[in-house]
Amino acid sequence: MCGIVGYIGDKQAIPVLINGLSKLEYRGYDSAGVAYFSENKIVVNKEKGRLSVLSNKLNGMDIKTNIGIGHTRWATHGEPNVLNAHPHINGDSSIAVIHNGIIENYLKLKEWMIEEYGTDFKSETDTEVIAHLIGYFYDGDILEAVNKAIDKMEGAYAIGVICSKEPDRIIAVRKDSPLIVGVGEGENFIASDIPAILNYTRNVYLIENDEVVELTKNEVKIYDKFGQIVNREIYKVTWDASSAEKEGFEHFTLKEIYEQPKCVEETVSRRLDNDDYINLDGIKISKKDIENINKIYIIACGTAYHAGLVGKYAIEKILKIPVVTEVASEFRYSDPIVDENTLFIAVSQSGETLDTLAALREAKRKGARILSVVNVVGSSVARESDDVFYTWAGPEIGVASTKAYTTQLAAFYLLSLYMGKVSEKISDDEYFKILNELKTMPNKVKETLDSSEVSKQLAAEQFNNESVFFMGRGLDVYTAYEGSLKFKEISYVNSFAIPAGELKHGTIALIEKNTLVIAIANQENLFQKILSNIKEVKARGAYVVAIAQEGHKEIEKVADKVIWIPKTLDLLTPILGIIPLQLFAYYVSLAKGNDVDKPRNLAKSVTVE
Ligand code: G6P
Repeated sequence: MCGIVGYIGDKQAIPVLINGLSKLEYRGYDSAGVAYFSENKIVVNKEKGRLSVLSNKLNGMDIKTNIGIGHTRWATHGEPNVLNAHPHINGDSSIAVIHNGIIENYLKLKEWMIEEYGTDFKSETDTEVIAHLIGYFYDGDILEAVNKAIDKMEGAYAIGVICSKEPDRIIAVRKDSPLIVGVGEGENFIASDIPAILNYTRNVYLIENDEVVELTKNEVKIYDKFGQIVNREIYKVTWDASSAEKEGFEHFTLKEIYEQPKCVEETVSRRLDNDDYINLDGIKISKKDIENINKIYIIACGTAYHAGLVGKYAIEKILKIPVVTEVASEFRYSDPIVDENTLFIAVSQSGETLDTLAALREAKRKGARILSVVNVVGSSVARESDDVFYTWAGPEIGVASTKAYTTQLAAFYLLSLYMGKVSEKISDDEYFKILNELKTMPNKVKETLDSSEVSKQLAAEQFNNESVFFMGRGLDVYTAYEGSLKFKEISYVNSFAIPAGELKHGTIALIEKNTLVIAIANQENLFQKILSNIKEVKARGAYVVAIAQEGHKEIEKVADKVIWIPKTLDLLTPILGIIPLQLFAYYVSLAKGNDVDKPRNLAKSVTVE
């Protein structure tokens, strides 16, 4: 959701900005723009649509500049058009601003400025208010003007500011929206996320909330909210820039689907000690801590929420403690019953999802211990948690989450086994039975991927379907939810998922001849039940594709097609069961000519409510 980039240094700024923005495309956007210095004034160029439209235009302009800011906008206030695109400028074009987030009191500020100064606003955005506000406070020092402006602003923002009267400085601020600073030699950068600057430097400052940053080409100064200089340690990025590249795959989404064996392997193996016991390093949960827990909340959004549902199942099964998994946007307004004996688990790939972050803060305020399962190192959720379980998925660029999901599942299995062992709720036999099987998952995920042809062929046959139903029982319901979400996200197919036992209470009315139903049938103890549900929809004309563990030949007699996954423990089937569904959604999306990696209307990192 909105990407910001800024550059100051010896290089030509425009190619750096465009390159940076291209690495942030995954965040989702509908227009793009840059502002830079040319002949002592600020020039702004903005275009609706893809970044390539903007970069083609800029390529033909031969711009020479060493400082600039760039933005990809995901519309919140006002439709996606050139006027609303960022950067925004003030009345005399001396200030240009890029912004990710929402200024909640922008209408009040706007009315005040119109009344007081007769300000002429050109766009419908909240961001334009920031540019004017800084302009009004400007009195020879852009840092001071920005500080005065942010005093008046409420909401969430990461902003980058340049001023025509001080062409050697960029000012940036972070409050609840991600911001990093890249530190180079004779050049410095700001960005929403690390991939944007990785082509140029691996030295990064992770900016904290309420911090203001001043960049010149040779220096970066970070100030806290009291204006005091902060001494921040450089964070060295260790992952390879190529992990944020497509490496020969047609799309990031496909590449990330195929990375899952490696990512699951990393997530699991990094948590095993030499004796093959789970070792959570910094996470110290004692037997006493676990005995004191009266309730566990797992809170997340989207795909991470589905991982949380599987997490609930695993924790309850092993730890026998009640777990509530809820979507973050509901949790935060539900006056949840949380106290110091609550364990709050936040799950988030990006670690920047605003709803998840706000839910975490609410739980923290009420005294809960916060444990997070996060992919992005140093992200807001990670930083605000008491303990962090990092998944090792590496950068996930495709908007539809795939490898983050399977690593989140692996994280939950490890967490529940670890807590089960510490609290002596699980026998050694059971512990090693599950753990040893978990260690086979990377190979089994690979085996599942090796049968991708079946999903591909299915997509070729079914891509014109207007709707698809997913159903399952027990743990398979969550695989159905996640499979259905993948479909909506990238295939734009009207799909939904239900617990198969609920069919007869309404949904079966929608089943008619050739309705496509995907039945997840991976649970041994519920196998006969799902067979009956398949028969129910078959009797009404549905075309049924089943996902089942190898060996369950019986299902071939009732379903039209079966996609097999390798045999494993029922508890672990969600890791394998989702793979054919990710592939199916991918190939349908491809067949329909959709923008697989950047599906319409969606953003990778949702930093607004
Ligand atoms: C967005 C993404 C989803 C993701 C959700 C939660 O909606 O498009 O793919 O599952 O946010 O994101 P998080 O980063 O918190 O896991």
